Amino acid sequence: MVTEQPALTFAALLRKLRAEAKLTQEELAAAAGVSPRAVSNLERGFNRTAHKDTAVLLAAALGLAGPAAELFVAAARGNVPAEQVLAAADGARPRPGAAAGSPYRGLAAFGEQDAAFFFGREAAATAVLDRMSRLLAGTGLLVVSGASGAGKSSLLRAGVLPRIGADGLAAAPGAVWWPRVVFTPTRAPLDELALRAAVLAGADAAAVRRELEGAPAWFALTARQATLARPPGPAALADGGRAAEREQPGQRRLVLVVDQFEELFTQCPEEGQRRAFITALHAAATSGHGPDQAPAALVVLGVRADFEARCADYPQLAGPVQDRYLVTAMTERQLRMAITEPAKKAGAKVDDGLADLLLAEVRTGQPGAFGAGALPLLSHALDQAWRHRTGPVVTLADYERAGGIDGAVAATAQRIYDSLTPGQQAAARQVFTRLTATSSEGVDSADRASRAELGEGKVAAEARDVETVLEAFAAERLLTLAANTVEISHEVLLTAWPLLRDTWLADTHADRIVRTRLRTTAAEWERHSCDPSYLYSGSLLQAAAQTTTRAPSAGVGG
Ligand SMILES: Nc1ncnc2c1ncn2[C@@H]1O[C@H](COP(=O)(O)OP(=O)(O)O)[C@@H](O)[C@H]1O
Ligand SMILES: [Mg+2]
Repeated sequence: MVTEQPALTFAALLRKLRAEAKLTQEELAAAAGVSPRAVSNLERGFNRTAHKDTAVLLAAALGLAGPAAELFVAAARGNVPAEQVLAAADGARPRPGAAAGSPYRGLAAFGEQDAAFFFGREAAATAVLDRMSRLLAGTGLLVVSGASGAGKSSLLRAGVLPRIGADGLAAAPGAVWWPRVVFTPTRAPLDELALRAAVLAGADAAAVRRELEGAPAWFALTARQATLARPPGPAALADGGRAAEREQPGQRRLVLVVDQFEELFTQCPEEGQRRAFITALHAAATSGHGPDQAPAALVVLGVRADFEARCADYPQLAGPVQDRYLVTAMTERQLRMAITEPAKKAGAKVDDGLADLLLAEVRTGQPGAFGAGALPLLSHALDQAWRHRTGPVVTLADYERAGGIDGAVAATAQRIYDSLTPGQQAAARQVFTRLTATSSEGVDSADRASRAELGEGKVAAEARDVETVLEAFAAERLLTLAANTVEISHEVLLTAWPLLRDTWLADTHADRIVRTRLRTTAAEWERHSCDPSYLYSGSLLQAAAQTTTRAPSAGVGG
């Protein structure tokens, strides 16, 4: 039977959001104009739901707005799973300085909250939903692959997930009720998985994390527990709960989307963690806990096509990689929708001549830079043209001022850089070289860092320079700031901005290979109780020492 356990979940959500807002219980209470006891009772789960008025006040005090605030209030009433609030809050925090109301996402991926501005991917979303639906009868693990910039993250977040929330799946209309979670592996995939699942299951994240390490296949049970959390989303409420009544107990699943699955290889330093992560996901997607039980989770992995072979090295993923769904370039008709419809949604218009020109440029562009990889450049050029527009119509002139399809990213980045003081420019170089990881094969990829880490070891004025740099680049969506972390919005920036590509990254290439490896080794050493056999010696030690001495100019400090 479906049990009700939203209270713990909401308590955990409140604690997390408060921590991210860097507020004490007392500060939050004061900001919201409620009693500290009310906050404390909610966070300890003594009060399982909050009054609507209290929830509205808390949402505002936590800096939530729009859909995130609405979902927060609904979660406080026990009406939607807390996880949905987290997903919305991650993408919905006001981006400081961002031009209000651009219907284009620039280099950032579309999130669930951007679904209204997401066009041209109906067919792809339908295809993915069909695959998911069919997988319910077998192994519940789908790989969605495609080139960098093909639009995988956006398709999953803004195309697929909202449609499950609205219509369910063909083979399971009750899927509107299923809890959904989407996350990226980051450097600590097991931490991330434990946290996301524990929030839903109302379990202790630390306990789930320990289990993932010791007996990862048991994660199937945690996933099952997460499906028991009561998640009547707004659509389901309107349905009067009939969909849930029709659903056989044990049919419910957790929809678990791991986006940017390649981070498991580009960011996570440890093979042991990788294996455990894959084992846990596979177990949740394949094994029921009784003879008639369906598996607990429907797992979707979004992965960059050039990492397919690495994934297929793991026996549990070989089949799903073979049967992957490939996200390909949009057709001309679909691209036209992606260009013109968002502006219409925002009450404006893209000039016909501009739409034609954009389509022609995508069609005749260099293979590699264009084709499946054209979207980020197109998306950024449109976002910039929108910001440069002078009337309700986005024109060719606006677009040209913004730098055109292959020049807009470089033009924006360089314009921001040129507007910085020398101190800030030095900080910018350090930030961008730090945010680029380089594998031992010399392949660059976008990395993620905590804001604290970027400011580490700096005097106050330097730390302020770093903050200024982050805000300036985030305002144009070249960097993405989450609660505590910073990342390059899309790795296309690594190749599209000459200063970064030809100077900063080229100059520090060798150092970054050493440095990335050093970070990996340090993490392993720490996890193995600081066993000295994990430490560098000999020539490795010498190379690392040289690299760190060069730190200030090479941007390898912190
Ligand atoms: N349907 C779409 N319409 C317009 N722009 C899109 C669409 N899908 C993706 N984009 C843009 O393309 C770029 C790459 O999208 P993303 O989802 O991050 O791709 P991937 O995850 O495959 O690298 C982003 O700038 C995003 O805003
Ligand atoms: Mg992506």
